[in-house]
Amino acid sequence: MHNNKEIEKRRTFAIISHPDAGKTTLTEKLLLYGGAINLAGSVKGKKTAKHAVSDWMEIEKQRGISVTSSVLQFKYGGYCINILDTPGHQDFSEDTYRTLMAADCAVMVIDASKGVENQTIKLFKVCVLRHIPIITFMNKMDRDAKNPFELLEDIETVLGINTYPMNWPIGSGKEFKGVYERKTREVLTFTANNGQREVEESRLGIDTEQARELIGEQMYSELHDDIDLLDGAGDEMDIDMVRSGKLTPVFFGSALTNFGVEPFLEEFLQLTTPPLPRETDSGTVDPMSDYFSAFVFKIQANMNKAHRDRIAFIRICSGKFEKGMEVYHVQSGKKMKLSQPQQIMAQEREVIDEAYAGDIMGVFDPGIFSIGDTVCTPGVNVKFKGIPTFAPEHFALVQQKDTMKRKQFIKGTNQIAQEGAIQIFQELDSGMEEVIVGVVGTLQFEVLEYRLKNEYNVDIVRSDLPYQYIKWIGNADVDPKKLDLASDTKRIQDLKGNHLLLFTNLWSINWALEHNKGLVLLDFGGA
Ligand code: G4P
Repeated sequence: MHNNKEIEKRRTFAIISHPDAGKTTLTEKLLLYGGAINLAGSVKGKKTAKHAVSDWMEIEKQRGISVTSSVLQFKYGGYCINILDTPGHQDFSEDTYRTLMAADCAVMVIDASKGVENQTIKLFKVCVLRHIPIITFMNKMDRDAKNPFELLEDIETVLGINTYPMNWPIGSGKEFKGVYERKTREVLTFTANNGQREVEESRLGIDTEQARELIGEQMYSELHDDIDLLDGAGDEMDIDMVRSGKLTPVFFGSALTNFGVEPFLEEFLQLTTPPLPRETDSGTVDPMSDYFSAFVFKIQANMNKAHRDRIAFIRICSGKFEKGMEVYHVQSGKKMKLSQPQQIMAQEREVIDEAYAGDIMGVFDPGIFSIGDTVCTPGVNVKFKGIPTFAPEHFALVQQKDTMKRKQFIKGTNQIAQEGAIQIFQELDSGMEEVIVGVVGTLQFEVLEYRLKNEYNVDIVRSDLPYQYIKWIGNADVDPKKLDLASDTKRIQDLKGNHLLLFTNLWSINWALEHNKGLVLLDFGGA
């Protein structure tokens, strides 16, 4: 019973956004409400502060960016909130996608002066795959923003999800007066204070004289028209639609000035659920089950180079974890203790004694875990559905410089691929002379180069390849050699022998589909 109470309190979410939309700023403000920890270094500061966050990988320091993600936990209003922080850099990696596998819902931050941007689209697609609720924070209303109706339409047409504005902005930029809250029929007023960070908020009934005066005659009447339109023609609020990821509640606000953040947080906690059941090979696992179960969603290598250690990030799906308890690693069939269980905060690693369904923890990995693996109470035979392989977007041919180093080269590329930092492919019928490396963000090429040199003592030559799209062949019985393909399409296979195709453009994908009846091309590799 005690466990259930703890689990009920959990909310585990990831924030998705295009770089610069305000993810870091919003995270900081949310932590503020939790009274969480020394703020200055807890969230990745911009620019100069970034190198201080993590010394896990030398390359991060060199580039002044953060490749790794962390988890921030805080308490607010009786809830225990886990924010999964994903690398904010332009050059994000597959880990960013995998982190979404560990979340129960997502907050989508959009810059209201720009609307939906490229990277949001990519991350959104992964959320859709999982049918998790997506709550939108339309940020930077203190700057000139696009028309709110256009912003909603943008979400609906580009992302294909219905919207329900929870509040409605009154002006934007210099004319920003605040937001009208639909549920309470109150105006939350915004008082600009010359770029000061925190602004005053106060509440006024929409029908009060004060509200009319503050907003001004013209905007007040426009607001009424907008409200009529929303109430009359907009989507209805439907919590089931929200929870199945078909309708996104939208909050307008401004993270920097901390305007609308607390009402957002409060509503957010009501709209979302405690940890969700998870699919396994033998049915779903209820988070309230009395046994412990968890899966590995990310592996971080070489946090401490001297020991060549790895940390496996685990999302607990049911029950309670207690330090020192014995667990069963399903994939290897071995019983083991999870050593050095810790919560990885941005800056610190804190050893933990217990954790519950919904929580994320890092454990020492002696090299036995792979992404997607299950650990659980011995005797409970569950195996979580694995994590799909996400399509890389950049490809390069990689060879070792010194042919004498061939063994190390193969070992290194294979190990790094197993950790999930890169994907490796081969041309059909070719040996391991050359390896085609695919990555989600180009920074991973540098990580590969750096790690091969530093950990395996191998220098590589890399030539970038012009491919833009990769597709898994979905038909088990198709011989790729017999497919009729455009001349610039390449046939390859992955480490498990799955067949894939590399395309330079959309045109050659269409060619392949048109010339090979029944061919199925998939965007994600099977889990
Ligand atoms: P990210 O993590 O999504 O990449 O974005 P981040 O929070 O770092 O915000 C990007 C920039 O946008 C920052 O400015 C930040 O201060 C600004 N910003 C975030 N929210 C708001 C908002 O509500 N209103 C306004 N006007 N600006 C906002 P910067 O100049 O790049 O960094 P800094 O010098 O402020 O640290």
